[in-house]
Amino acid sequence: MANAYLEGLFGLEGKTAVVTGGGGVLGGKMALALAKAGANIVIWDLTEEIGNRTVTLIKETLGAKAQAVAMAIDCSSDESALAGFKTAHDKFGSVDILINGAGGNRGKSPLTEVDMKTFEFVLKLNLVIGCMVPMKAYTKYCIENKIKGSVLNIASMAAHLALSGVWAYSAAKSAVMNLTKQAACELAPYGIRVNAISPGFFLAEQNKALLVEDEKTGKLTPRGQAVIAHTPFGRFGEAEELQGAILLLVNNSAGSFITGVTLPIDGGYLVSNI
Ligand SMILES: NC(=O)c1ccc[n+]([C@@H]2O[C@H](COP(=O)([O-])OP(=O)(O)OC[C@H]3O[C@@H](n4cnc5c(N)ncnc54)[C@H](O)[C@@H]3O)[C@@H](O)[C@H]2O)c1
Repeated sequence: MANAYLEGLFGLEGKTAVVTGGGGVLGGKMALALAKAGANIVIWDLTEEIGNRTVTLIKETLGAKAQAVAMAIDCSSDESALAGFKTAHDKFGSVDILINGAGGNRGKSPLTEVDMKTFEFVLKLNLVIGCMVPMKAYTKYCIENKIKGSVLNIASMAAHLALSGVWAYSAAKSAVMNLTKQAACELAPYGIRVNAISPGFFLAEQNKALLVEDEKTGKLTPRGQAVIAHTPFGRFGEAEELQGAILLLVNNSAGSFITGVTLPIDGGYLVSNI
């Protein structure tokens, strides 16, 4: 009985999710969480090889019959995103969930020394590639196919607080939070929900260099130490710790009346005080 109750709220049997940047650290673990709840998974990443890391993880965890495929889709292009949703639709019958997991930061610097090429790259990666293009293509697809889809964007602590030195990343992530609200409002009449999460600090390829000085010993950079000191839980997050929140937000049953929120998952980083 309890299982049937939980299955009704959180189960994703027969649903299909596209996870952009799904070959990455957080995208991979979010895809695995949805697969464990029963969803078919379509990983989009820059190459099939990167995406297949997560396909392998899902099949090793759940068995060879788990439905997971990787597609090489560059999320900077409207056309390739629209074509990608069509391919996923043709294979699985519908795409019910989009997780926008592509994104990440590149380094930090004082304002007066910002390298504008890097600034534009990071802005585009997180705002255009990591949110706008896939969200636009997906919701167009949902409206045309009368699907009550669910979008999950990925913001960051940088969307809520001014983190030092990561200018483009902060600008882009605050914009992701803003677009999440706008899209939620506009798309509610179609039954489409749009939410976001703001992960605290989780070690991944894109932020390791900023946070970890020596991978062998685990010695942190001064910035990494400052993050831990500012996190009431006193540690980085583990990617698995995103799963409960995302299963709530993406599910049209458990999350039926939730739209436009950005949920921090941060070990208390945002409520830290003196
Ligand atoms: N790790 C953290 O602490 C943390 C905290 C807050 C927010 N985030 C956000 O979570 C998301 C995932 O980050 P991560 O830490 O897992 O990083 P990651 O670098 O491990 O994963 C990012 C993935 O995006 C893919 N990607 C890059 N450009 C792409 C494109 N044009 N099209 C398709 N895929 C592309 C990369 O190949 C990579 O697999 C990002 O938006 C990041 O900003 C991470």
